[in-house]
Amino acid sequence: MSIVMKVVLPVLAVACTAYAQCSDSATKTVQNAGDASAFASCSTFSGSIAIATGTPGDISLSGLEKITGDLVVENNKDIKMVGAPNLEEIGGEFRVGDDSSLTALTFGKLKKVDSLHFTGLPNLYNLDFKAKITQAKEIRIENTMLQSLDGINIESAETIFIANNPQINDITMQLGHVGTSMVLADNNPQVKVVLPNLIWARNITMRNCSSVQLPSLASLNDSFGFYGNIFSEFAAPNLTEVGGALTFVSNTELTNVSFPQLTKIGGNMQIANNTKLQSISGFPMLKQILSALDMNGNMTEISFPALADVRGAINIQSSLDTRGACNTFQKLKSEKGWRGDYFCKDMVANPGGAGTRPNGSSNKPSGAAPTLNVQNGVLGLTALAAVLFL
Ligand SMILES: *[C@@H]1O[C@H](CO)[C@@H](O)[C@H](O)[C@H]1NC(C)=O
Ligand SMILES: *[C@@H]1O[C@H](CO)[C@@H](O)[C@H](O)[C@H]1NC(C)=O
Ligand SMILES: *[C@@H]1O[C@H](CO)[C@@H](O)[C@H](O)[C@H]1NC(C)=O
Ligand SMILES: *[C@@H]1O[C@H](CO)[C@@H](O)[C@H](O)[C@H]1NC(C)=O
Ligand SMILES: *[C@@H]1O[C@H](CO)[C@@H](O)[C@H](O)[C@H]1NC(C)=O
Ligand SMILES: *[C@@H]1O[C@H](CO)[C@@H](O)[C@H](O)[C@H]1NC(C)=O
Ligand SMILES: *[C@@H]1O[C@H](CO)[C@@H](O)[C@H](O)[C@H]1NC(C)=O
Ligand SMILES: *[C@@H]1O[C@H](CO)[C@@H](O)[C@H](O)[C@H]1NC(C)=O
Repeated sequence: MSIVMKVVLPVLAVACTAYAQCSDSATKTVQNAGDASAFASCSTFSGSIAIATGTPGDISLSGLEKITGDLVVENNKDIKMVGAPNLEEIGGEFRVGDDSSLTALTFGKLKKVDSLHFTGLPNLYNLDFKAKITQAKEIRIENTMLQSLDGINIESAETIFIANNPQINDITMQLGHVGTSMVLADNNPQVKVVLPNLIWARNITMRNCSSVQLPSLASLNDSFGFYGNIFSEFAAPNLTEVGGALTFVSNTELTNVSFPQLTKIGGNMQIANNTKLQSISGFPMLKQILSALDMNGNMTEISFPALADVRGAINIQSSLDTRGACNTFQKLKSEKGWRGDYFCKDMVANPGGAGTRPNGSSNKPSGAAPTLNVQNGVLGLTALAAVLFL
């Protein structure tokens, strides 16, 4: 062995042990506060860290600035606090789930995660994320007692899913776009949603919200759906195009829907069971609906002054007098050569959706009722085809 090797080898050995506690090719499991303190000398941990099931008390991962893999705190009924005062980045998933005693997540410097998934945290009321997470591809928060998303303020995301958090009453973010989907559902019925910078999203589904403000929204690549919200007004002042379906179902307080710049709906337009929505006149520029138009409810006014093209079936049923809306549609249909299945009737006892016929109507359904896929607010395409070609 050369003299150089004799000197270098012991140095390498020392470096390796230091390196060993700062990396793990599998997942490094933390059983107690002592294990946690072993990371104190690592600024970067290469790999994933999991807090073991049954770890009690408080766990602080001090010293760490970056974890390249995941940080997981799961199925732990005794843990009360998890924190990492210096941690700025989690390269993988930050997953915290089914920790019934957890009251504090303290990550004062955390700014970036790949994805964040919090679920089943009945004692977590707020996030102690002072620096705020500004970068995350995916955010999923379900079944927590969080009261707001203070601590999360991302600029863009692929997926946002925030559901069944009965205390959340404010969802405000600087979010500019959503690449795949955003679902906000079954949170506190008082929840106010304010996304002042959101310009585009692929899919948006809003359920059970008390107000939704999307002043900059310019386009949806796919669908835009509202179900069971309790707002009285909804406006999308800057929206010009919805690539897929536009849906309003069972928004029982809704009286005014305003889409002053919307010109095109690439899928179905469905407006159903919005008890108080009497006037549908907020679509002054809508020219094209590339699939079905399906509306039922207590309407007295239906006006689409720019509508020139409906490619799918048309179903309009109202319990009240629509003052000639059906005549207008019938005329448009023959003038414009719209070819889809057509049914329009007002003053009916039980207005229904596409494929249904109200009581007392002599106009028999033209076949089996198509199934309405209410879950995602889209009339099944095969069902529509059936309506079209019967
Ligand atoms: C609405 O769109 C216009 C034209 O694209 C833009 O100049 C304006 O800033 C947008 N308004 C909001 C609130 O984003
Ligand atoms: C959605 O539409 C926006 C604006 O037109 C566009 O920039 C974006 O690339 C589209 N996204 C997807 C996923 O197609
Ligand atoms: C949410 O709205 C649906 C109707 O779409 C309703 O059945 C459900 O009870 C509501 N949930 C809450 C938590 O209010
Ligand atoms: C509906 O809302 C729009 C935009 O917010 C507003 O301009 C319009 O006056 C409202 N219409 C009614 C009948 O309240
Ligand atoms: C509207 O309400 C009726 C009666 O409750 C129900 O049968 C129908 O499925 C509802 N429509 C939608 C689209 O949810
Ligand atoms: C029409 O209004 C009545 C009473 O306000 C309500 O019970 C009914 O569900 C409404 N119908 C529709 C289709 O929304
Ligand atoms: C519609 O007619 C059926 C059969 O006659 C009846 O059972 C039902 O109560 C009627 N519904 C309404 C809303 O009138
Ligand atoms: C978007 O919504 C439509 C209709 O609800 C659904 O079929 C589609 O899978 C959704 N796409 C994504 C990327 O979530």
